[in-house]
Amino acid sequence: MANVVVVGAQWGDEGKGKIVDWLSERADVICRFQGGHNAGHTLVIDGKVYKLHALPSGVVRGGKLSVIGNGVVLDPWHLMKEIATIRAQGVEITPETLMIAENTPLILPIHGELDRAREEAASKGTKIGTTGRGIGPAYEDKVGRRSVRVADLADRATLEARVDRALQHHDPLRKGLGFEPVDRDALLAQLIEIADHILPFAAPVWKVLNEKRKAGKRILFEGAQGALLDIDFGTYPFVTSSNVIAGQAATGVGLGPGAIDYVLGIVKAYTTRVGEGPFPTELEDEDGQRLGERGHEFGTTTGRKRRCGWFDACLVRQTCATSGVNGISLTKLDVLDGFETLKICVGYELDGQRYDYLPTAAEEQARCTPIYEEMPGWSDSTEGARSWVDLPAEAIKYVRRIEELIECPVALLSTSPEREDTILVTDPFAD
Ligand code: GDP
Ligand code: IMO
Ligand code: MG
Repeated sequence: MANVVVVGAQWGDEGKGKIVDWLSERADVICRFQGGHNAGHTLVIDGKVYKLHALPSGVVRGGKLSVIGNGVVLDPWHLMKEIATIRAQGVEITPETLMIAENTPLILPIHGELDRAREEAASKGTKIGTTGRGIGPAYEDKVGRRSVRVADLADRATLEARVDRALQHHDPLRKGLGFEPVDRDALLAQLIEIADHILPFAAPVWKVLNEKRKAGKRILFEGAQGALLDIDFGTYPFVTSSNVIAGQAATGVGLGPGAIDYVLGIVKAYTTRVGEGPFPTELEDEDGQRLGERGHEFGTTTGRKRRCGWFDACLVRQTCATSGVNGISLTKLDVLDGFETLKICVGYELDGQRYDYLPTAAEEQARCTPIYEEMPGWSDSTEGARSWVDLPAEAIKYVRRIEELIECPVALLSTSPEREDTILVTDPFAD
């Protein structure tokens, strides 16, 4: 397979960063195609920890081309800080190794302010629990045709016109929230200053990638968030503001849909969610506490405690379908070590009826009761296992049952945060 898309198949934080980093050895180009610095992808290489938000996880390897595609919303000030942090960890980042699509919309400071103000003003039940990074308002401006895009930074007159267009919308909105109008000149000055840092990385990404594809180069697409946070197929309105499912990979960089050869879904061996919204298998007891502690379930971006629960096979079967997942990477199996009994959700009950999918209406989603199947746990450690033979029989049975229930095979298994603690079953890049 030439090109592989990696997507989260739950509510994010499935371990995409680790797997993208691992797979990037086999790839030539690694692209982000949606989301922004709401993402937090953690890589651990020989004990050294890298936390990436806007940068593709391929940057750490060196010798690869990393790409920020047009489907992303980009905060240029955040990006420059992140580049400085990662460079300080010894990683080389140059315009030869990082490209940003010229048609990428920018996240401006007013987007973050608006995002946070809305969240603060929201009442119980309407709060989303966003990362506060301005993602939603930036995407609103994109579809509203009033974004400032990377290419606009190159020309002063265009930049002024784009800023004025955005402010025509934002100033009345800010007035309604009791905010001062935007200081236009200060914003322009900030943009002009950052332009010199960003423009060296700007490129017609669609063209570069189409040429790479023709030249037989391997492209790895790095999804952010997870399918249940997708703007269309997630638990709306408790979602992010972009399409995160695999179909977005092509649109988000400017390749045709035929460019996608294999979709790898990243699936945590249990379930977590950060932020508000329905979560049928959520555990608010000792087991939930234990999953959170063993799995170090605190957000990479906001530091918030992640909600934890049992594995939901019904949901993952659904997300594997909406992303056309060919194989999954099952992560954090080691976190389940020592549980006497494990539960897997195989369907829901709602108003006396059984469902084999999550109903669409938010009100129904909130009332779904999970139907569980129980499996024996294992007491031996799976942590750091690098081959099937190192796994206890019950752990293998748990993995096999998951495959059956989600109707999708395991291609990779991850047993610790470390890059090399990964079991390869089927190479997504293999022909
Ligand atoms: P992402 O957003 O999908 O990239 O995931 P995050 O990086 O936000 O969260 C996953 C966390 O789990 C990170 O701290 C990883 O280092 C860690 N992790 C990834 N795979 C494994 C695994 O197999 N076992 C354990 N124990 N931790 C893992
Ligand atoms: P990675 O790539 C987990 C969640 C937020 C909130 C909702 C909307 O690390 O898996 P937003 O700021 O996007 O408008 O917030 O989406 N969210 C994530 N949850 N992992 C992420 O990214 C997330 N990115 C956004 O918590 O519920
Ligand atoms: Mg994360």
